[in-house]
Amino acid sequence: MGGSHHMEEGAAHDHGSVQASAANQVMPGGRSCAAITEDAGNEAVREFRLTAAQTVKELENGTTEQVWAFNGSIPGPEIRVTEGERVRVILDNKDIREGVTVHWHGIVLPCSQDGVAGVTQDAVNPGEQFTYEFIADSPGTYWYHSHQASSEQVKKGLLGPLIVEPKEEAFDYDREMTLLIQELNGVYRMNGSARVLPVEAAPGETLRLRMIQAANETETFSVNGASYRILAMDGHDLNAPGVLDHHKFRMGAGQRYDLLLQMPQNGKVVIASESGLQVILGTGSDPVIRSDHALFTWTDYGVPDPGAPVADLPVDHSHTLTLDQNLFINSINGKSFHEIPPIIVNEGDRVKLTITNIGGGDHPFHLHGHRFQVLSRNGMPLSGSPVYLDTLLTQQDETFEIYVKADNPGLWMMHCHNLMHASMGMSMMLNYE
Ligand code: C2O
Ligand code: CU
Repeated sequence: MGGSHHMEEGAAHDHGSVQASAANQVMPGGRSCAAITEDAGNEAVREFRLTAAQTVKELENGTTEQVWAFNGSIPGPEIRVTEGERVRVILDNKDIREGVTVHWHGIVLPCSQDGVAGVTQDAVNPGEQFTYEFIADSPGTYWYHSHQASSEQVKKGLLGPLIVEPKEEAFDYDREMTLLIQELNGVYRMNGSARVLPVEAAPGETLRLRMIQAANETETFSVNGASYRILAMDGHDLNAPGVLDHHKFRMGAGQRYDLLLQMPQNGKVVIASESGLQVILGTGSDPVIRSDHALFTWTDYGVPDPGAPVADLPVDHSHTLTLDQNLFINSINGKSFHEIPPIIVNEGDRVKLTITNIGGGDHPFHLHGHRFQVLSRNGMPLSGSPVYLDTLLTQQDETFEIYVKADNPGLWMMHCHNLMHASMGMSMMLNYE
């Protein structure tokens, strides 16, 4: 069962030639950006439509709220495809005056399809259309959102889940659900609902939960009534994840965690966030909501993979980024967006970034178009599973080293995914020569 309904689809699984709408190579900034290959290979094409429009959402308490939504739905419709398929999404903007785009958060795709207004395309104005196309190469849990004035538009509702199912499932489970956490005009919601989301699940059933943290502030979740495993972070499977019992975990803005749990014999599990959201699985007797959960730390979780070492990796160049925020200024290395020189790389470079959060709360650091490996935290190399992320939660005084293989030419944003911080300057570019 999906957390939100699946969207209407056009011709599914047809094969044939494709007109890419964004074959333009020159981007608004005058630099070049890779286009999608115009000829479809033998992969199946899945076509979807997203229409952005002003909408009125009815709330549980009978009041209504003015929102902006894709296809009238909060969150937007779930786009669900299979690994290897060519995804085509036709975006229409009905009446969002400042224009919209769609960014495919976490997906590695050609730069021209990345959906960043002012960088990879112009915003799509009311009455206009834009067609995105990419190959869904990597299975996992992702999301999409407008990247035009995103600090305002995401909060207004222009976002939704994007699931890439694997060709072959690595884990067995009976059912799965997507849980998208968002802040809508100041209220935290899960799949559009404030506070409680009941889900029927029978004792003994195994469930995969695809959690997408799309709100600006970090959320901490506890699982009550069952032990669980964290299968994947940011769409990438952890290596041999162990069982967690009475553990809570923190999700920074933009991150995804996939959980696997089994419904206990007494039939009920509650997943609770510190901000008050709850998902109640099953119908049995209440599990005890404990307050003494240990914090899950992924730095020593799972089993090292000898094929993905964290030490002594070859590095072509290194950069240091300090993230800071005070009342008026959000900065990287003391500067804000337009003053920050881009990091310039050549295709093939192996790049190490050392990122320190020196103040102003949590800064979830997101890199577009790539997936990076986390090497160390506060000088300690990771001792567990290799961890590949596209969004790294940094908290005050933490330093992380991450490793990026420059294998996707283009112009790519890196920014704090507290979108308020990003809009106030905590954003910069990683550009290929
Ligand atoms: Cu999900 Cu540039 O963002
Ligand atoms: Cu921040």
